[in-house]
Amino acid sequence: MRKFLFYYFLSLLVLSSCHSEEDLMIEDFESGSFENWTTEGEAFGQAPAQGSLAGEQEVVGFAGKYLANSFHNGDDSRGTLTSKPFRIERDFINFLIGGGTSSDTYIELLIGEQSIYKTHSPVESETLQLMSWDVKAYRDQQAVLRIVDNQRGSWGHILIDAIEQSNQYKSNLMENYTLTYDISQKYLLLPIEDNAPETKVQLLVDGKQVGVPMDIRLAKTHIQYWLPIPVAHYQGKKVSLIFSQAKKGDMGISQIKLSDTFDYTYNETYRPSFHFSPEYGWMNDPNGMVYHNGEYHLFYQYNPFGARWGNMHWGHAISEDLVHWNHLPVAISPDGLGAIFSGSAVVDKDNTAGFGKNAIIAFYTSAGEQQAQSIAYSLDNGRTFTKYNHNPVIANPNIQDFRDPKVFWYAPEKKWIMSLATSQTITFYASKNLKQWEKLSEFGENIGAHTGVWECPDLFPLSYKGETKWILFVSINPGGPNGGNATQYFIGNFDGTTFTPDPLPYPLWIDYGRDNYAGVTWSNIPESDGRRIFLGWMNNWDYGNMVPTQNFRSAMTLPRELRLADNGEHLVVASFPIKEIGEEKDYKAIIMNKLSSDYTFPISADFYNNGYVVSFTVKLNGLKGFRFALQNGKGEKIMYHFDTEEKTFIVDRSKSGLTDFSSNFAEPLIKAPLTPKDHYTIHLWVDKASTEAFINGGEVVQTNIVFPTEPYNQLWFDLRGNATVSVENITLYKIKN
Ligand code: FRU
Repeated sequence: MRKFLFYYFLSLLVLSSCHSEEDLMIEDFESGSFENWTTEGEAFGQAPAQGSLAGEQEVVGFAGKYLANSFHNGDDSRGTLTSKPFRIERDFINFLIGGGTSSDTYIELLIGEQSIYKTHSPVESETLQLMSWDVKAYRDQQAVLRIVDNQRGSWGHILIDAIEQSNQYKSNLMENYTLTYDISQKYLLLPIEDNAPETKVQLLVDGKQVGVPMDIRLAKTHIQYWLPIPVAHYQGKKVSLIFSQAKKGDMGISQIKLSDTFDYTYNETYRPSFHFSPEYGWMNDPNGMVYHNGEYHLFYQYNPFGARWGNMHWGHAISEDLVHWNHLPVAISPDGLGAIFSGSAVVDKDNTAGFGKNAIIAFYTSAGEQQAQSIAYSLDNGRTFTKYNHNPVIANPNIQDFRDPKVFWYAPEKKWIMSLATSQTITFYASKNLKQWEKLSEFGENIGAHTGVWECPDLFPLSYKGETKWILFVSINPGGPNGGNATQYFIGNFDGTTFTPDPLPYPLWIDYGRDNYAGVTWSNIPESDGRRIFLGWMNNWDYGNMVPTQNFRSAMTLPRELRLADNGEHLVVASFPIKEIGEEKDYKAIIMNKLSSDYTFPISADFYNNGYVVSFTVKLNGLKGFRFALQNGKGEKIMYHFDTEEKTFIVDRSKSGLTDFSSNFAEPLIKAPLTPKDHYTIHLWVDKASTEAFINGGEVVQTNIVFPTEPYNQLWFDLRGNATVSVENITLYKIKN
C-alpha cells in the first residue's frame, strides 16, 4: 500500500509539473532577421518575409508579422535554413507549415546525424497549417532544425512559422497515426468514399508489417460503402493500421469497426448475371489465364481495397466450364518491387524452370518506380504462389512503358517466347528456363494504330483452311476506333524469332465497341479441345473508374472462341461466345419467322432477369439499311443501325439509361465497318449492364456497356419503310445458368 501511495503521488507530481510547463518558442521570426539560423542558397532571402513575396499568391495563416518563405526569386530558387542546436524540453514540437507537397520541400528535425522527422506541407497551399511532432522520446537531447527548399518548378517552395516546444499536441493533423485492435472477429471494416483522396495505410500484425502500404480512399463526407479487411486468421492477435496522415475527428478513421460479417451478396442493379465480375473491389485486365488439371484459371488486375483502380494485385477465380466461377483469395500481392501489373501464366510440363514438374508459372510486371518483369510459381494448382527470389527476371532498359508479359511454348525450337509491350512496339524474348531471357526482335514501327501506348500483347497461331497463321493482339490506349481503348491485331507469320505481318488494311480491331480491352487468350487448352479462347476487360479507361456501380467495378466480356474468317474482302479474326454459355438449341423461343414491317416485341422477365440472347438474320435486298433497339418503358434504349450506304454498323447508347457519370460515355455513334453481304446474322448477348453484338459469327463485333434504370423489356425493329428488307428467325434464347 505504501508503495502504491508513493507511485500515486509521484505520478500526480509528474502530471502537474507537465501541465505547468509553459510553451517555449523556438522561433517565430518576429525579430525580422535570421539571426538564429544559418542560411544557404537564395530561396529564403536575407531575412524573414512579411507575408507573400513578388509573384506569389496571398500567404495567410502565419502568426504575427513575419515567417520563413522560400519563394524569393520564385519557385525555382533553392536554399536551406539551419537552426542553432537547442535542447528538447517538452513532449511535442508544433509549427505552422505551407507551400508545396514535394519531398524536396520540408522541415526536418535532426538529433546528431539522425533525421527524426521530415515533413512537407500536407496540401499544396499558401495557407499555413498547424503540424505537430511527438518528441517525448528525445527529451533532454540536443536537436537541430533544417528548413529545406530543394525543389524547382511548380509549388517548389515552403512556408514555416511559429515553431514551439509544448506539452500539448496542437495539430489536428496526425502523421503515422496508429489504431490497434485485439482481433476476435472476422473483418475490419473501413468506410470508403470513391472521391476521397488516397491515404497510405500499413497493416501490422503483432507489431510486424504485413505487405506494403495500401492507398485507401477513407470516407471524408459520407460513407459510400465498406472495405472489408479479412482478419479471421489473426484471431487473438493485435492488428494495427498505421495511417500515413490523418486528421483528428476524421469520419474515415472514427467509423472503423470490427465485424463478424460482411455481406458480399449486396444486391446491386448492375451486377451481371452471366459475366464474370469481382465479388468486391476494382477489376481491370484479365491476367494469367491458364487451363490446368480440369480448371480454367482467371487471374485479374485487382484492387481489394476499393472500387477504383489502385493497389494492383492479381485477383483469382476458377471454373470448370468457363461459365460458373468460384472466387479464390488474392493470388499475388504487391511487394517492395512494386504493384503487380498484367501478365500471363503457363504450365511448365517439363520442369524447365526447376520449380517442379507441372508448376504453374506466372509472369507479371513489377510496377515500381520502373517497370520490370517478374515471375512466381505455384505447385498446388494455383492456390498459392511463391515469388522467385531473384526477381525481376527482365530488368528495365530505361523504357517507361515496359510491361504485360505473355508467354507461350514454341515447340519447334523447344523454347519459351515472351511478347512484351515496350512503349509503342512489341518486343519478343526467348528463354529455355523462364528465368533468363534474350531479346529476339521488335515489331510495330510504322504499322497499325499508334495514337496511344501499346499494352497487353498476345501472339498465338490459328489455322485457316489447313494453313497456320500467327496472330498478334496489341491493346492500345487511347486511340481505339471509337475513342479510348481497344485491341488491334495483326495476321502474319512467326518463325521463332520475328513476326512478319501480312499486308492487310491495319488497324484491324477485334471489337469495335467501346468496352473490350486488354483481352488475351487462355494457355494450355488441351489439344483435344483445340479452341483458342479469348476474354477481355469489359470497360474503358475513358470512364471505367466512374461507372455507376459500387462495392465492385467492371466485368469481363464473355469468353469467346477465336477463328479466322474471310469477311468478303480479307481475312479477319472473328470471335464468338463459347458454346458453354448457351446455344440456340438449349432454349429457343422463336418470336417471329419473318418480319417485313416495323414491330415491337415484348421481352418477358424470365428472359431479362438472368440474361438472354437475341438472334436473327436480315436480308437487305439491296436496300439502305434498318435499325433495331433494346428499350424499356422509360424510353431508355440502345439503338443498332445497319447503314449499308455508309457500310457501317452503328451503336447509339446516348439514351441508354445512366450516362452522365462521365462526359464521354454517351457519345452517340459507335461505328464498325460492314462489308457488303446479301444477308447478315446478328447475335446480341444482353446482361444487366452490357450488350455484346456479333455479326456473322463475330466477323464484326461491338461490345458496349449500358446502365438502364429499368431492364430493357422490348425489342424494336424499324425497317425504315423498306418493304423489301426482311428479318428472319427472330429468336430469343436463354443463358445456361
Ligand atoms: C492495361 C494496363 C496494363 C497494365 C495494367 C495495370 O489496361 O494499363 O498495361 O499492366 O493495366 O493495371
